[in-house]
Amino acid sequence: MNPTFFLLLIFLSQAVLGAEKSSLMSKQQLGTALFFDANLSANRNQSCATCHNPSQAFVDPRENKFARAVSEGSIDGRFGNRNSPSLTYTSKIPKFGVDINGDYRGGFFYDGRAKDMQSQIAITLFNKNEMALKNPQELLNRIKENNDYILSFETYFGADVFDDPDRTIKAVASLIVAYESGPLFSLFTSRYDRYLKGEYVLSDLEEKGRNLFFSDVANCMGCHHSSQSQSDQNELFTDHKYHNIGLPVNQTYIDKDALQKKSPNLGLARNTSVKDKKTSMGKFRTPSLRNVAVTGPYMHNGIFQELSTAIHFYNHYIVTRETALTNPETMKGWLKNETSENIATDLLQRGQPISGERMKELIAFLRILTDEEYEHLINDG
Ligand code: HEC
Ligand code: HEC
Repeated sequence: MNPTFFLLLIFLSQAVLGAEKSSLMSKQQLGTALFFDANLSANRNQSCATCHNPSQAFVDPRENKFARAVSEGSIDGRFGNRNSPSLTYTSKIPKFGVDINGDYRGGFFYDGRAKDMQSQIAITLFNKNEMALKNPQELLNRIKENNDYILSFETYFGADVFDDPDRTIKAVASLIVAYESGPLFSLFTSRYDRYLKGEYVLSDLEEKGRNLFFSDVANCMGCHHSSQSQSDQNELFTDHKYHNIGLPVNQTYIDKDALQKKSPNLGLARNTSVKDKKTSMGKFRTPSLRNVAVTGPYMHNGIFQELSTAIHFYNHYIVTRETALTNPETMKGWLKNETSENIATDLLQRGQPISGERMKELIAFLRILTDEEYEHLINDG
């Protein structure tokens, strides 16, 4: 056989085989693949799962010079100024809006600036400190590098889905949102859930912690409780509202990262849907406490490493003893407030101090809010 013809034959058969390799993915497979796809970041080095790692309850486990308070994006050396939150139970957060009392409620990101999960994804893909794609056209090009994506997108969203980058973004977002809304993200398998179903008996310490949490003594439920009933199976341990709890600035990354000095964490006041900026400064959406024992560091600025510090911090609104004024992680006083306007002193001064036995009880309770799949991550120290 003529060698050129032979080579041509091999080439053609490979082209045919190659074409056969592009296979139709289910919508669920697509959503999962996109969530894990590092090609959707500027330098092809990170995916959603990098900062929201499923084996770590969807937080960012990567060590960095800021003690994991904030995360590095696709571009080397670029960090955001917020802690990567767990995505467990995120799909249960209501869309951004105003409730019957006129209070802002729901929305995505700590300041609710993404009104729903779809718009959250579009922001992340093009955020310079996160996935940092240049523009929607670049996203479209990256999607089209994958033959399975092309076939599947055209099948589910129409042959013209790639004609307009905005349509491509919407398709990508809807697939990832469907994945994030699936059972893997909202497991309801914690010991607390099993207790509510009568399948687990609380230990003495856990029971005391539960009573304390829902009592006026601790007043955690003033903000970390949404339903009428204390045994609601869907309890997310948040009112989904915005409060300024007067957190200290996180000097660690402000000192080391010039970018942070330019953009202080103003919270809700940075949300473009919010008109009354003055009364919104420093307010952040109350996070769910499900899986909280395994999702540190804590707070929007990742200022606390330990759960006990996050709880101890609330004491300084109630007592002025020196211990309450000291941050046990630094053994110094709490640093100045990030935003001193609008601190929710009314709600924060209602409780009594939590230390000693009460601290042990409350932590025992918060630990049982951990889904079974993540219980092995609980640090007993
Ligand atoms: C570089 C790390 C990083 C990457 C990559 C990243 N995120 Fe995030 N994510 C964050 C941080 C930090 C926040 C909080 C930002 C804020 O509140 O301003 C966040 C917030 C969110 C929220 C809102 C959660 C809430 O409680 O309001 C969702 C949902 C989310 N990310 C999903 C995604 C998806 C989907 C992707 C991939 C398209 C992704 N993230 C990629 C770091 C990251
Ligand atoms: C005034 C309302 C309010 C009260 C009362 C309150 N919290 Fe919070 N809590 C918040 C808000 C808002 C945040 C997020 C603050 C931020 O990041 O700026 C938060 C954050 C937390 C966090 C960190 C969660 C994370 O994932 O980073 C923990 C833990 C916590 N609260 C536990 C408690 C406990 C335990 C009590 C009772 C002793 C309590 N809270 C009382 C509003 C409140």
